[in-house]
Amino acid sequence: MDKLVIGGGKKLRGSLTISGAKNVALKACVASLLTDEPVTITNVPDIADVSLMLEVVRSLGVDYRREGGSVVFHKKNGNGTKVPLDVGARLRTSSMVIGPLLARFGSATIPNPGGCRLGARPIDRHIEGLERMGATIDYHSDDGYFYAAADGLTGIEYTFEKNTHTGTETLILAAVLARGVTTLKNAAQEVEIDDLIALLVSMGANIDRTQSREIRIEGVESLHGTTYDIMGDRNEEVTYAIAAALTDGDVTVHRSEIANMDAFIDVFEKAGGGYEQIDEGTTRYFRKRPLVAVDVTTQIHPGFMTDWQAPWAVLMTQATGESHIHETVFERRFSYVSELKKMGANITFYTPDVEDPETFYNFNWSDKPESHFQGITIVGPSPLHNAVMSISDLRAGATLVLAALVAEGMSYIYGVDQIDRGYEAIEKKLAGIGADIQREKEEQV
Ligand code: EPU
Repeated sequence: MDKLVIGGGKKLRGSLTISGAKNVALKACVASLLTDEPVTITNVPDIADVSLMLEVVRSLGVDYRREGGSVVFHKKNGNGTKVPLDVGARLRTSSMVIGPLLARFGSATIPNPGGCRLGARPIDRHIEGLERMGATIDYHSDDGYFYAAADGLTGIEYTFEKNTHTGTETLILAAVLARGVTTLKNAAQEVEIDDLIALLVSMGANIDRTQSREIRIEGVESLHGTTYDIMGDRNEEVTYAIAAALTDGDVTVHRSEIANMDAFIDVFEKAGGGYEQIDEGTTRYFRKRPLVAVDVTTQIHPGFMTDWQAPWAVLMTQATGESHIHETVFERRFSYVSELKKMGANITFYTPDVEDPETFYNFNWSDKPESHFQGITIVGPSPLHNAVMSISDLRAGATLVLAALVAEGMSYIYGVDQIDRGYEAIEKKLAGIGADIQREKEEQV
């Protein structure tokens, strides 16, 4: 276990390269189960969640080898269909192997998915869709496994009750080898899903976005190998863009995904952030004007992503005025607030006025504990001071790093393994643009 030691107050200047998108790389691992031919994925981030997912597919008979930033997958060892509990339960995307396993081998045994502690995050919408495609799925609470079986999957027309990013992908991954046509309505639109679709099409799948929020998948007999380069990580880019504006620095990112970040750029500019697109893959971020308070409400694509609100909160602690963040996608994503308050941030919780919460919120309203709030108010600017902090989830981790970068004094952040789940070499990238940051071994207490 490591900790980060960060000295605040440095203006970050320089350039860095954005890594491949975590939320595509994880699904690319699942796609490797769909064929017996080699699948080469390039621009794969070297992060802990990908390492775990590689273990998941290895346990299902996929050989893999890393070659620099690429991974070559080859499914050739037997037809294992049970995901081991120790790796699977730690990673939500491990449940996504269910579709390829059912379509190809007729059974799948998957642990109740883990991942970040952002709330209940059930997979009822995934399970319902798979059952409609002909699978029988039983959950055994004694061992925490879903037991699924199917005599081939059949194409269906399915309307998601609410948006689900991985639910949409799970049904796509099941439908590509199903008999007949599947039409997914009210399907999620995140651009990472389109990258997965492009990967699957390069393997011979027949998938079209027929209209807004509708995807048509015509099942094929088999898929073949491919080489595919995945998109950059928008969430990582937002973190570094905020770091630049927050520290009044000037940071250029390569492999930029700015074309897919409109909702962020809109509020970033309003808040005083600036950017310059140097060329298609290169963007410079900086502070253009003194920072001012701007409200955000998280939304499904193409709105302001839930993954961006925690780093946004740090920016708002340094902005003049009162701002609000209303989280509508997950029921629990403010775990970082108590740590920011320790550093001197002025943040209070509030209950946003919502007419019909059952339909308004993306999560199942019944999953929300009464004690949880969906809104925070931030009053700034507040000078932040150093603190000893511990991390509860991935985006909260990056948020505390950002806060430490503008705080006065030396901060200590424990639980860095949460950041390592999704950010490649965060301390190296930040040190490369002038941050005073070191990784040290965490003492055992
Ligand atoms: N939900 C249900 N039932 C379902 C599916 C979803 O209740 O069957 C609820 C969830 O509990 C959540 C909401 O609906 O409250 C939205 O869930 P969604 O399925 O859209 O999110 P996800 O697929 O679990 C992915 C990303 C998240 C990202 C969201 C939103 C991956 C592995 N994860 O989560 O990324 O925030 O979509 O775009 O792709 C991260 O990278 O740190 C991360 C959490």
